[in-house]
Amino acid sequence: MLSVQSLSRSFGGVSAVDSVSFDVQPGHVHAVIGPNGAGKTTLFNLISGVYEPSAGQVFLDGAEVTGLPPEALARRGMCRTFQNLQVCMNMTANENVMLGAHLHSNPGLWSGFFGWTRAADRRLEERAHELMDYVGVGSARGAHATQLSFGVLKRLEIARALAADPRLLLLDEPAAGLNDSETHAVGELIRKIAAGGTTVLLVEHDMKMVMSISDHIVVLDQGRKLAEGSAEQVRGNPDVIAAYLGVDA
Ligand SMILES: Nc1ncnc2c1ncn2[C@@H]1O[C@H](COP(=O)(O)OP(=O)(O)OP(=O)(O)O)[C@@H](O)[C@H]1O
Ligand SMILES: [Mg+2]
Repeated sequence: MLSVQSLSRSFGGVSAVDSVSFDVQPGHVHAVIGPNGAGKTTLFNLISGVYEPSAGQVFLDGAEVTGLPPEALARRGMCRTFQNLQVCMNMTANENVMLGAHLHSNPGLWSGFFGWTRAADRRLEERAHELMDYVGVGSARGAHATQLSFGVLKRLEIARALAADPRLLLLDEPAAGLNDSETHAVGELIRKIAAGGTTVLLVEHDMKMVMSISDHIVVLDQGRKLAEGSAEQVRGNPDVIAAYLGVDA
């Protein structure tokens, strides 16, 4: 479904992503892991059109999408969340989710956001409620974003990304800042999303979660692909163990 080919990007002298290639199969939960600064977020930014690559290509369902802006990618079925919370704190929970549907499905962006009809508004609101139930934050309906816990806001972001009905969902550290039981529950949500037909590409530091939910794992270190394979293959790879121990030492 997604093919990343020799993708590269440097900042000044730092090679943040260095000729990284991999494929993501439809219906999979596909993880990208690696130590801090390995290039995971930069890789996501290159795939999702936030940054332009200095070399390499991205294909979505066989069509080249390299360098397309995020809205264009969303219309082709690719949506993402960010490592740092991007919830609009001056809106309600529903409005945040509705914004996701509208921003992604309408080229008119903000003009469209303010110009929509009442019927469309109701449909979006119903869809937002469904999605909030789906991600497990139905009780936050109508609440103002400032009233919600961090864990609820992280799930709300997933609901907002799902509001555009993506076929491929990119999640950058969905469990960051969550406790063990919240992390476990987000892992279950990710499996549910994949089982529902939305392919998931995930960056995550929580190894327990990554190892238990991922069909395939790519390991980055200093911008390069160090290894890839199943959880068992990656866990037993001496290069991967050395990269992680090297960071900890
Ligand atoms: N906009 C930028 N300008 C300059 N350097 C950047 C920029 N974005 C990333 N980098 C550098 O690129 C490298 C990779 O960073 P990146 O954020 O992609 O790593 P990461 O694997 O997501 O790390 P973390 O696990 O801490 O989130 C780092 O050396 C970082 O300092
Ligand atoms: Mg990152």
